[in-house]
Amino acid sequence: MRLAVYPGSFDPITLGHIDIIKRASKIADKIIVAVLSNSRKSPLFSVDERIDMIKNSIKDIENISVDVFDGLLVDFMKKVGAEIIVRGLRAVSDYEYEIQLAQTNRELNNNIDTIFFTTNVKYSYLSSSIVKEVAMHGGSLDKFVNLYVKNMLIKKCNSLKGLKEL
Ligand code: PNS
Repeated sequence: MRLAVYPGSFDPITLGHIDIIKRASKIADKIIVAVLSNSRKSPLFSVDERIDMIKNSIKDIENISVDVFDGLLVDFMKKVGAEIIVRGLRAVSDYEYEIQLAQTNRELNNNIDTIFFTTNVKYSYLSSSIVKEVAMHGGSLDKFVNLYVKNMLIKKCNSLKGLKEL
């Protein structure tokens, strides 16, 4: 079975991520979307919230599951028995970081290969960070995330604003 892992922070999952998951699901028998829990970035959403949003966004695709990992990605890959990493490439600016990740992972385990999907042009500018910025300022999110994630973002931003006003 061709098992692939799509790792990331997914804080939150965007339409760009969903597009990559859908396309990857056609070339692998099974994809595990793996959410990093111990990121150095401080996430807006908890791991459970991120998993919930991913599950909600991929419920119509059959061969996908969602898992969480901390520590090294290669250790998680070994645990689940996967040797293919899926990543999206938006622009040249992504390339340097992505090649570094892919090569480090391959140095750590030379059975592992990374497959890159070029992002749909429609989403080539999109990132979770930009989406959070727009959400914090009350901008329209419809072109960036699905309805479920949009509502989660609005709820989260409102609760953060409420905390600030206390
Ligand atoms: O969505 P992101 O934040 O760009 O995803 C980055 C991620 C989670 C793929 C990367 O940070 C990662 O794999 N972290 C786990 C630690 C690790 O194995 N790093 C690679 C070797 S330095």
